[in-house]
Amino acid sequence: MGCHVRDGRGHTPTGNWPEDNAISMLMRLSIPPQNEAQQAQLSSGYMGVIPEPTYGGQLQDFAVTGIDAEGRIHTTYTPVTVTLNGGEQVELRKPEYRVTDLSAGPLHPDTMLSVRIAPPMIGLGLLEAISEADILSWADPDDADNNGISGRPNRVWNVVENKPTLGRYGWKAGNPTLDQQNNGAFNNDIGISTPMMQAAYGDCTEAQKVCRELPDGNTPAQDNAEASQQMIDWLLFYTSNLAVPVRPDAAKPEVLAGKQVFFDSGCADCHRPNYQTTTRADMPEQSDQLIWPYSDLLLHDMGDALADNRPEFAASGREWRTPPLWGIGYTKTVSEEAHYLHDGRARTLLEAVLWHGGEAEAAKQKVIAMAKPQRDNLITFLESL
Ligand code: HEC
Repeated sequence: MGCHVRDGRGHTPTGNWPEDNAISMLMRLSIPPQNEAQQAQLSSGYMGVIPEPTYGGQLQDFAVTGIDAEGRIHTTYTPVTVTLNGGEQVELRKPEYRVTDLSAGPLHPDTMLSVRIAPPMIGLGLLEAISEADILSWADPDDADNNGISGRPNRVWNVVENKPTLGRYGWKAGNPTLDQQNNGAFNNDIGISTPMMQAAYGDCTEAQKVCRELPDGNTPAQDNAEASQQMIDWLLFYTSNLAVPVRPDAAKPEVLAGKQVFFDSGCADCHRPNYQTTTRADMPEQSDQLIWPYSDLLLHDMGDALADNRPEFAASGREWRTPPLWGIGYTKTVSEEAHYLHDGRARTLLEAVLWHGGEAEAAKQKVIAMAKPQRDNLITFLESL
């Protein structure tokens, strides 16, 4: 809950350490493959990244008693001004990230960083109940329909099936199932072991001996982990069943006008409006429903400005998964802060749209060029979701 504030999204820190810390934001670390063995690990699909050799796959900016935090995330924002048709100016903030206070020496010189805020927790079970075929039916990896929008599925290692399967969760669709996402969060984000991910030292590497040798909480009473299978099952039930909000304003004229702008601008080419979920014996609550996530769950090249230049499984350093937009109008009501996009750089929905580039460049240009009342309706529509 510290990260996913009231089951909503996280936010960027209000300042840099020690003024504030990055509690609901994390930084991923990895390096390009350094040898044939690492290259083979990536191409087999078994690993999505090669972790940074000293600090692992994620910067741990908190630590248990007895060890130091690995480092601190520092962010500097530079203003970027966009002028809209009609003369209105919007100031975006372009982030730059730096790691300081490293506790075990410098990062590998080729380290690739990726900052992500915690995404909202709603509707996740419903996304699991969409059939893989339905998601893949929207993929257009070679842009065969020539609309400038491709859309590629990520293929990521599935720990239970022991093979690569479709990625659905995470900013780059780097996780195949909600269960694996939950287990990974326990293990990597808070350092708690589970029956699926048994390393009680979490993300600490062999280079971090003190961390690896500290006493842990693995116990037969918790299925030889720190969190038992029962806890994991409860967590899966909870995270599968957080509902999406109703839309009381859906039929208002300005909302409907904004919805038309959304479709006319090409937003719906990636933010796919709806699906019919499948019948799943294990998920009766999520079965056979018409749902409106506004996401195709596919990867898109979003241009230079949003690129983290850090590949993850099949996702390139410029690709991100279209995030679902359901509930996005409630962001501030839920978590008081409102930060959008993978690293929370956008402070309003309009800023989020104005960062779109790459495959979404044409859609963004339409928003810049349209008359203000239309743009306002578009935002009103987003706020109604
Ligand atoms: C080419 C596919 C594509 C198109 C077209 C597109 N988007 Fe997006 N959208 C994305 C992706 C991918 C992200 C996430 C980017 C990131 O986090 O860096 C995103 C993020 C967003 C967000 C922020 C979501 C969040 O959870 O923070 C909003 C709001 C949004 N889009 C609205 C729109 C609107 C409105 C349009 C049309 C003007 C549009 N998008 C067109 C792919 C697209």
